[in-house]
Amino acid sequence: MARLRSRRSQPVEPERLYDEIAPDYAEHVERHAKFNSAIDELIAKDVADGSSVADIGTGTGLRAAQLKRRRPGVRVTGFDISNEMLRRAMPSLDGGIRASLPNLPVRDNSFDHALCLYNTFGYLRTYDARVKALKDMARILKPGGRLYIDVVNRTNMGEQGEYKRGALTRRLLSAIPAYGFSKPGDLKFTMNVKGKQFTGDTHAFTLKELNHLFKKSGLTVVHKQVIGYTSGKPQTDPNRGQFFFVLEKA
Ligand SMILES: C[S@@+](CC[C@H](N)C(=O)[O-])C[C@H]1O[C@@H](n2cnc3c(N)ncnc32)[C@H](O)[C@@H]1O
Repeated sequence: MARLRSRRSQPVEPERLYDEIAPDYAEHVERHAKFNSAIDELIAKDVADGSSVADIGTGTGLRAAQLKRRRPGVRVTGFDISNEMLRRAMPSLDGGIRASLPNLPVRDNSFDHALCLYNTFGYLRTYDARVKALKDMARILKPGGRLYIDVVNRTNMGEQGEYKRGALTRRLLSAIPAYGFSKPGDLKFTMNVKGKQFTGDTHAFTLKELNHLFKKSGLTVVHKQVIGYTSGKPQTDPNRGQFFFVLEKA
């Protein structure tokens, strides 16, 4: 179970974290299998056969494999900062490139669609990096192409472990973004996988923050859903799940 707390010490580089966790990654994601599967279903329904897809922060290629299982004609190119993750993803990909968002080594208008899943976007550490990352993902999409992205919801801390709080506190978290965090939304997390403990840094978002970032990127929100992190079920209460968005390039 991952536990989140406010950031106090030096951040851990995601490359180092994921190189270390790579052999045990499948076990780590198991606890959110229903959440990831619900998103995989939504994406597969929206993506046409034969599409080219960039899976950004592909990890071990689990999501690429799921998409190709549901849509066998789709071609997926994976991008990841971690060699150890990417090496494991290669059998599920049509191509794999070691690269770091927001510097994707790809020409403009290259892909029909892009994925940025399981809070990969949360590893971008600054506001500027987040804006650049969204613009870079928009750049590599063809006109009409879609970006499928999910992120940690700052007011859904009840599903993260340590931040088990009531409705009033969640509202406060939303209204006063710095509450409980050293920098608004920045979190240090620890996770135990097969008896080993891993520590990393991520960012949890508010809806207001996301709408602002998306506007900056030039992408348009065409679908937004709150999905239970444990249950994988759609939620009507925006404080009861993680955010999933479909964004489109004009
Ligand atoms: C939580 S995992 C998600 C993996 C995969 N998308 C999934 O849903 O299983 C995050 C992945 O993003 C990669 N990553 C983190 N920051 C990145 C960056 N700036 N550029 C490229 N990859 C990055 C990590 O190495 C890791 O493999």
